[in-house]
Amino acid sequence: MPGRVVPGSAIVEPVVDIHLDPAWIDRALRADVAEGLTSQPKELPPKWFYDDRGSELFDQITRLPGYYPTRREREILEREVDVIAERSGADTVVELGSGTSEKTRIVLDALAATGRLRRYVPFDNSEATLRNAAAELAEAYEGLAVHGVVGDFEHHLGHIPDGGCRLMMLLGGTIGNFPPAPRKDFLASVAATMVPGDTFLLGFDLVKDHDRLIAAYDDPEGVTAAFNRNVLSVINHRLDADFALDQFEHEARFDPDEEWIEMWLRSRCAQQVTIRGLGMTVDFAQNERMRTEISAKFRPENIGPELAGVGLAMERLWTDARGDYALTLSRMVEGR
Ligand code: SAH
Ligand code: TRP
Repeated sequence: MPGRVVPGSAIVEPVVDIHLDPAWIDRALRADVAEGLTSQPKELPPKWFYDDRGSELFDQITRLPGYYPTRREREILEREVDVIAERSGADTVVELGSGTSEKTRIVLDALAATGRLRRYVPFDNSEATLRNAAAELAEAYEGLAVHGVVGDFEHHLGHIPDGGCRLMMLLGGTIGNFPPAPRKDFLASVAATMVPGDTFLLGFDLVKDHDRLIAAYDDPEGVTAAFNRNVLSVINHRLDADFALDQFEHEARFDPDEEWIEMWLRSRCAQQVTIRGLGMTVDFAQNERMRTEISAKFRPENIGPELAGVGLAMERLWTDARGDYALTLSRMVEGR
């Protein structure tokens, strides 16, 4: 039974704006790969994980027994969603890094029940995943205007459609994938898209027992390893490179000083990789490690000040029953 957003209305065809044309992607990937593979240690930025195959692998990660963040976030959303709907007073939900928009339904259901919900704006760099999610939600919620944006949230936040009283959301612990300085810039750019009264729902993972943290990023099933190596296949396809995926080993470690998980790809042997599209060869020593991702883990007391630093006043902070994961609701304050 579809959720009726506007009584008596029909399905509204989703609108999808594309700000990632092939030329933009090509330019950005070239710059990132050229810079990352000549750094010491070598590094690749995580946004390139999420081609169609990568998005599908991430979806599988969210169902792994050891990957607790998705389940914990869903637990908190289900418990607190009426408070979120009531305090936000939103008619528009804007979701950054929306992926499959699965947990989003919990929020849309509660807002639909208040009778205010009008619009959902999913924002993601994975076009196929976003189109699927947009079509499914438009069908499930009659009368809901779904206006998707395919873009890079580090560059295209200015293209979020105007209007409405907004609830902005960033779920899935995606905030942890930014190193601290870029994270501050990113939060400031999100805040810059908001007007006084708009609210921000942020989900983030908490510091905990190191073995459980590692287990969430190094599953015995090998799905996370496949996800990590997928970034090499993206480069192979887009930049005509010859990375041998089976010659790179997935490694996850926790850095206790930075309090973040690091994902690496370790070269099993001494090897040379050619990236024809860049006219570049890259040498890897045996056991040389290339960093592909960080996932920062937070302490609840530090989040309020970070949000306040960009003009967001934290109103609520919730954790799941085990204290594994947290959600905050904050509000853009007047007079900035
Ligand atoms: N919100 C979902 C997905 C989280 S995974 C959940 O909670 O399960 C992170 C998502 O952010 C992916 O869908 C990925 O495609 C998207 N993403 C990663 N980097 C991005 C970027 N730079 N710009 C836009 N979307 C990005
Ligand atoms: N936002 C997710 C997280 O930090 C992304 C993620 C989960 C991820 N597993 C991963 C990124 C493995 C790279 C590799 O938990």
